[in-house]
Amino acid sequence: MSKSYEIIDHHYDVLVIGAGGSGLRATLGVAESGYKTACISKVFPTRSHTVAAQGGIGAALGNMGEDDWRWHMYDTVKGSDWLGDQDAIEYLCSNAPEAVIELEEYGMPFSRTKDGKIYQRPFGGHLTNNGEGAPAMRACAAADRTGHALLHTLYQQALKNNVEFYIEYFVLDLLKDEKNKCCGVIAWCLETGTIHRFFSHQTVLATGGYGRAYFSSTSAHICTGDGSAMALRQDLPLSDMEFIQFHPTGIYGAGVLITEGARGEGGYLTNSDGERFMERYAPNAKDLASRDVVSRAMTIEINESRGCGEKADHVLLHLEHIDSDTINKRLPGIVETAKIFAGVDLTKDPIPVLPTVHYNMGGIPTNYRTEVLNPTKENKNNICEGLLAVGEAACVSVHGANRLGTNSLIDLLVFGKAASITVKDKITPNQKKLNTSSSNTDEIIDRFDNIRNSKGDISTGELRQRMQEIMQKKCSVFRNHKLISEGIEDFETLQASSNNINIKDKSLIFNTDLTETLEFHNLMAQSKVTLYSALNRKESRGAHAREDYKDRDDQNWLAHSMVWLSDIGEVKIDTRPVNLNTLTNHIQPIPPQKRVY
Ligand code: FUM
Repeated sequence: MSKSYEIIDHHYDVLVIGAGGSGLRATLGVAESGYKTACISKVFPTRSHTVAAQGGIGAALGNMGEDDWRWHMYDTVKGSDWLGDQDAIEYLCSNAPEAVIELEEYGMPFSRTKDGKIYQRPFGGHLTNNGEGAPAMRACAAADRTGHALLHTLYQQALKNNVEFYIEYFVLDLLKDEKNKCCGVIAWCLETGTIHRFFSHQTVLATGGYGRAYFSSTSAHICTGDGSAMALRQDLPLSDMEFIQFHPTGIYGAGVLITEGARGEGGYLTNSDGERFMERYAPNAKDLASRDVVSRAMTIEINESRGCGEKADHVLLHLEHIDSDTINKRLPGIVETAKIFAGVDLTKDPIPVLPTVHYNMGGIPTNYRTEVLNPTKENKNNICEGLLAVGEAACVSVHGANRLGTNSLIDLLVFGKAASITVKDKITPNQKKLNTSSSNTDEIIDRFDNIRNSKGDISTGELRQRMQEIMQKKCSVFRNHKLISEGIEDFETLQASSNNINIKDKSLIFNTDLTETLEFHNLMAQSKVTLYSALNRKESRGAHAREDYKDRDDQNWLAHSMVWLSDIGEVKIDTRPVNLNTLTNHIQPIPPQKRVY
């Protein structure tokens, strides 16, 4: 018994926190091998945010034209603006084809070519012949509902393998033992109000990104980066948090995603002059340049008064010229989305679009084996024992300063499986129960109880909106010292107010007020380290475009940012070298070059 909370204990070999694509793939990998596995999720698994992924999974299958995993690797390194670790990128791209075939064998309902192969479409930044050739047909798609098909496939396989799911359990924090090894988590069951301690020999964080730190985001409301905030609270660093991806085609006003696959199928953007402006910014790849390039081009068009609509504040995405058979077969989901959220029949009219926050390149730093890094002065590759991280929560780093479309779904599959391989290297199934006298149970419960009993006078919703507006305005597509410093100042004022939060509902059963407040605290921690990391990096690279430092500066900044947040809110920043070496001699390192599309 801690405070007045009764605690229910559970014991597992492996715990996976999060039931999106990476969490389910990791879960499945260990469950198939007979490990006693639990997967904990704050939502029903098939409601995890992976369900919203549309366009495809990047893998050089070569089903619809010549392709090679080495070209995929070249594009990914270039897309990352050379901030990606090349050992991890090699691991990703060389394992990608097998990961997709495995998924097919698990029953994934891919779209098909006439001869029955997996259908593949072009996507931004994916080219053939080391960036010199035509667009690569590399995105393996299930129409424009690829994430939906993937998530259901993995969930069904997990059920088949007797995974124990704890659904609608909100994980509060990581448990650690006397030696600082991670030994599980404490979670709050939203349905019954009970508190649970889950002990495990290996814990995998698969908790997704924190897109909801921003006002306009393609992310679901559940994307609050809970695992990354837990890592910060255990004195672990986060990496590359300044790199926030804006997807070029969020629906204007609603932020809902229109897949890049729409441009892959022939869609294009125009400004108020009706000009296909991407031809000026990326003469070769045009509308299929990488996302950071397209989002910046759109923002410049709008800032230079060539935006569309009454307020000249968006651009237009055209699909009217595409034949109805292709639209109905390949893009049925966005026909509906455009109708509902933009009131547009996309077979007749263009869709108003605006760059919208979509993905966090930064997160919990790991090596390619998914082990969480806890660098020390002596050893920058030191790991945190017992803890792995995968998916958007992690920063492997394969995406570096800018992720290519479709590389998120393949990251989920390849590194989800990699986590299960690492588990198998470390432990055998049916481990002895761990000692329950863990060191930090009381600390975790005290924090939960204090938040639950907040008696201030400002609602969580009001504070969250203020946070989202700060991030949207001060840490956007373009940044500079003045803007980010103002953001930090506004943030500190907001943080002072957040001590005055008001939680009206004190109950423990389906208390959405309390859940949202716990999520808000998680978002605040990540927003803070994002702002400080953005201020610190004095160059422009990938998605981090500084107006006051316009160029990439490999001399001083070819390094990962590492950021810590202390109990009293102090931010500490350091760097870690980028790994420019490959994993094997199947491919040579790709040295930094000028990045043009
Ligand atoms: O545009 C899209 O379909 C998004 C894909 C991705 O982020 O990988």
